[in-house]
Amino acid sequence: MRRVTFLFSLLLSFYMYRILSYVSPHLRDCPSSKFKGLNSVRAPIGYKALVTGGAGFIGSHVAKDCFNFGFEVVAVADMSGGFRKNVPAGVRLVLGDLKDAKFVSDLMEKERFDVVYHLAAYF
Ligand SMILES: NC(=O)c1ccc[n+]([C@@H]2O[C@H](COP(=O)([O-])OP(=O)(O)OC[C@H]3O[C@@H](n4cnc5c(N)ncnc54)[C@H](O)[C@@H]3O)[C@@H](O)[C@H]2O)c1
Repeated sequence: MRRVTFLFSLLLSFYMYRILSYVSPHLRDCPSSKFKGLNSVRAPIGYKALVTGGAGFIGSHVAKDCFNFGFEVVAVADMSGGFRKNVPAGVRLVLGDLKDAKFVSDLMEKERFDVVYHLAAYF
């Protein structure tokens, strides 16, 4: 009986080890040095990013990362979802509806973004 218990705990430890050391397949072959380098990635000076849905869950995180990378960041939201408090410090919030073609074209013309992350959407 003790031997069975021992073998069972051994097997359990093995599976626990496999689960805890699992690395997602898409990261398995990625050299860890690539991740370390991320902290030193900087946006070119003066680059401006538009993050649509920047008051939402995903958009606010993208906006924060863009800001930390050194972009000037503008978030657009119509506040049909998300929260004002989600908009990270340093990110400018512009209220507007992306279904309004004039609003979008005026915004693009005025701000001259270098990069756009379109995250204003719902599941
Ligand atoms: N939340 C998740 O776990 C998750 C996971 C994978 C993919 N996504 C995708 O990411 C996108 C954003 O999801 P989320 O969870 O951040 O949603 P969210 O509801 O938290 O935020 C959506 C944002 O988009 C804005 N928005 C919606 N329609 C707009 C319009 N017409 N004009 C201007 N702003 C508008 C809202 O004001 C809000 O700020 C969706 O496409 C979703 O499918 C989300």
